[in-house]
Amino acid sequence: MPRPSSRISGIVPSGKDGWEVHFAAWTRKEAGEDIIMLSVGDHDFDTPSQTIEACVTAVRGSNHHYTPLPGLPRLRLAMAAASSACTGVETTPDQVIATPGGQAALYAAVQAVLDQGDHAIVVAPYYATYPNTFSAAGASFTVVETPADDGFQPRADMIRAALKPNTRAILINTPNNPTGAVYSRERLEQLAEICREHDLWLLSDEVYWTLGGGEHVSPRSLPGMAERTLVINSMSKSHGMTGWRMGWLTGPQDMITLLINLNLVTTYGLPAFISIACAEALENRYGVKEIAGRYAARRTVLLDAVRGMNNVSVRGSEGGMYVMLDISDVEPDDEKFAWALLDQEKVGVMPGSSFGEAAAGHIRISLCQPEAVLQEAAARLRRFASAYRREAA
Ligand SMILES: Cc1ncc(COP(=O)(O)O)c(C=O)c1O
Repeated sequence: MPRPSSRISGIVPSGKDGWEVHFAAWTRKEAGEDIIMLSVGDHDFDTPSQTIEACVTAVRGSNHHYTPLPGLPRLRLAMAAASSACTGVETTPDQVIATPGGQAALYAAVQAVLDQGDHAIVVAPYYATYPNTFSAAGASFTVVETPADDGFQPRADMIRAALKPNTRAILINTPNNPTGAVYSRERLEQLAEICREHDLWLLSDEVYWTLGGGEHVSPRSLPGMAERTLVINSMSKSHGMTGWRMGWLTGPQDMITLLINLNLVTTYGLPAFISIACAEALENRYGVKEIAGRYAARRTVLLDAVRGMNNVSVRGSEGGMYVMLDISDVEPDDEKFAWALLDQEKVGVMPGSSFGEAAAGHIRISLCQPEAVLQEAAARLRRFASAYRREAA
């Protein structure tokens, strides 16, 4: 075949050895072994039945046609209302654009603010697709870690040190995947100050906003930030709709107007019946409270079980769908730990280092399993951690 573009060849799957633990666990489970999978980030339950019914009704109706590029008016209205609640800033429909999932909102945001050769700062640990989303735009980025012993909170001094003359944007994610950290108002204010001072865009991934421990603070609500913040939202986590592929981007109206042209050449609008089901799910908050409650209860169960363990400590883990455990006192090499935990106790977790340096010496545990399974996993982890120490000794 003729030579592919370097743009497409440059999008290489990220995450390396860590995913190998996940795939090994998956293969062994498929082969019938009693493996507890705590490495996946997808719900273990289906979409709420009211949302499914709304979609069935819509597809049986005559909703089989093209939709407006930025989203059906009813959907934009519902997304704007959700953004008002999420960000604390009154949002109008012309300040939101529907995208096929939060990932496409991220892609749109990066395409919208960075030219080829521009630079961005990505606060880490981060969601695995971030680096390649920048590569796809021909932009470079510097990773700025959030120290584990600071609860994985972003540090303004470290971000300032990474600024370059061509820095145009900072990307953050709170509640965070993989750490579960919920960035404090104080730290977000410091970030906002940097953005205002250097005239930067802030790309704020808030797809886990309903799964936080306490109050959700969106940097969009801080002084002078609504005009320079693009918020990434999604139906996937809050409404139990990962496979429906619906998300949205919120930002200044002028930027959203420009972004409609990106939809012209990419999605050309979204499926009508899915848009209607999503609008109804947003309007009625189908499943939102139940899903948030379920993850909060699971987090409590797991953290309670872990808190009594010697040599294992909890970092971050305040929101989202994950818990981050510092296992470095048991075994500093988190990959070695994860492989041994899989071999000896049949529990599949993600080694922290697959999410970057700051998470080295940690494991990420997904809460996408029922409470009883999480309790069993914690018991296996406890047994493993004490046996491992004895062997090491
Ligand atoms: C932090 C973060 N952002 C964005 C996404 C993308 O979600 P989706 O494309 O399903 O909306 C995910 C998915 O896991 C995520 O963890």
